[in-house]
Amino acid sequence: GLAAPVAGSLAACGQAPGQTGRVLHSAARLPEAYATPLPLPPVRRPSGGLISIEQRSASVEILPGLRTEMMTYDGVFPGPTLETRRGQAVTVRHTNSLTLPTATHLHGGHTPAESDGWPTDLLVPPGFEAPAHHGAHHAGHGDGPGGHEAMADPKAQVRAGRRDYRYPLEQPATTLWYHDHRMDFTAPQVWRGLAGFHIVRDDEEDALSLPRGDRELPLMIADRAFDEDGALRYPARDPELLGEPGVADRYMAGVLGDVVLVNGAPWPEAEVEAAQYRLRLLNASNARRYALSLRTSDGKPVKLLQIGSDGGLLGEPVEHDRITMASGERFDVVVDFRSLAPGTTIEMRNGLGTGRTTRVMRFRITRRATDDVKIPEKLADVPEPESPHGAVVRRWHFRREGVHGRRGWGINGKPFDPAVPQAQVPLGSTEIWEFFTDAHHPVHVHLSPFQVLRRGNRGPGPMDLGWKDTVDIRPYEAVRVRVRFERYAGRFLIHCHNLEHEDMAMMAGFETV
Ligand code: C2O
Ligand code: CU
Repeated sequence: GLAAPVAGSLAACGQAPGQTGRVLHSAARLPEAYATPLPLPPVRRPSGGLISIEQRSASVEILPGLRTEMMTYDGVFPGPTLETRRGQAVTVRHTNSLTLPTATHLHGGHTPAESDGWPTDLLVPPGFEAPAHHGAHHAGHGDGPGGHEAMADPKAQVRAGRRDYRYPLEQPATTLWYHDHRMDFTAPQVWRGLAGFHIVRDDEEDALSLPRGDRELPLMIADRAFDEDGALRYPARDPELLGEPGVADRYMAGVLGDVVLVNGAPWPEAEVEAAQYRLRLLNASNARRYALSLRTSDGKPVKLLQIGSDGGLLGEPVEHDRITMASGERFDVVVDFRSLAPGTTIEMRNGLGTGRTTRVMRFRITRRATDDVKIPEKLADVPEPESPHGAVVRRWHFRREGVHGRRGWGINGKPFDPAVPQAQVPLGSTEIWEFFTDAHHPVHVHLSPFQVLRRGNRGPGPMDLGWKDTVDIRPYEAVRVRVRFERYAGRFLIHCHNLEHEDMAMMAGFETV
């Protein structure tokens, strides 16, 4: 009933409240915290409107001295950071040289359906033998923790070799990310490396006084677990767990690792100047939530000044002591190190972690520096989140379901069926969507960003500001958002961004008409 404890029965023991999932422990020798320098993914800009990416297996050094076989974009993890400009359409040409099908989604992109990475719209390696029913994997056959019995999708498509994803990018400057979205296998394929940043810039943002260049750091935070030889552990691929009964059930709450990676490095350290820095925080973890805060080596807290959210800049900056982020969310923050002496270190900690996962990364001040950036009091025009009169209210209930006799997740009582959309939304309309759940679920809507109107019986929470595409739903706390569907007719997704929940069918299609 309503009095159920907030952590819910799905939170595994030893986890902080609000952290659902089950920890996979590493067998590998793990490095000391802050011993690895923070890497930055290579940056790629379009040339002639085109960026080409090869999806391929690569052996990457994540833990010092060990090699980790990964599924990668262009051989690196995270994938290359794509940098594009608002309104300048870009084609990203993906070649699949892996051994498995993929579907690539630009998370937060206002993208036509054709290029949105529908889960059964697969890109397969040349010569790959497509399954008879695309996307129809049966429980136990997959390498996900569960896999559900999907209906055959009459509109499923399989293309071999390469395909062009076209992004109009008619949207404000912000931090997007791209990642795999293959039906039933998103969680293992993202876990194995298919994720990267995509940063959209525009003239409005360029005109503002903000830290840039070396003082702008994209930080992809993701947890993983490693075997003795450096191989990634993931439940159903794991020799120790394979064939053990009940593995899917045990991990259906979500897979957590005991190693926190930032840009693919375990608990890294970034050398910085005594200046202001813009941090583009992305939680790319399968299921882990973080409550991030900063504290100097002499015990002083450092505030996080939020300037942007998933979908772009806020109207004005907002100061936080900590940022709580669920999987899929981005927070654009400025931190001020100007008053700190060289040699000072600043630790980024995770208040939702336990043991090793209470640490994330560290900054070290190397030298004093000049910094004339003055963060503007007004950043962008963001409308007040007000309820539109007479708007359609659509309710989406995220909860556990029996799926064909097996346990799984669903929305409005149904597991994901790629052939049957759950809603038809007229283009040009503004609707109120209400998300409800009895457990923690980060809800993500494709195509259109939204503004949070209410959380429970209050207004938006401190982490709900600005344009969002992913919002963290807590047990028994309905969240109402206003969402406007302006363009691109076709089928799109709403789903839980806990990737194990998504793979276990907590996803629905909606169709814009
Ligand atoms: Cu980040 Cu539908 O996904
Ligand atoms: Cu969920």
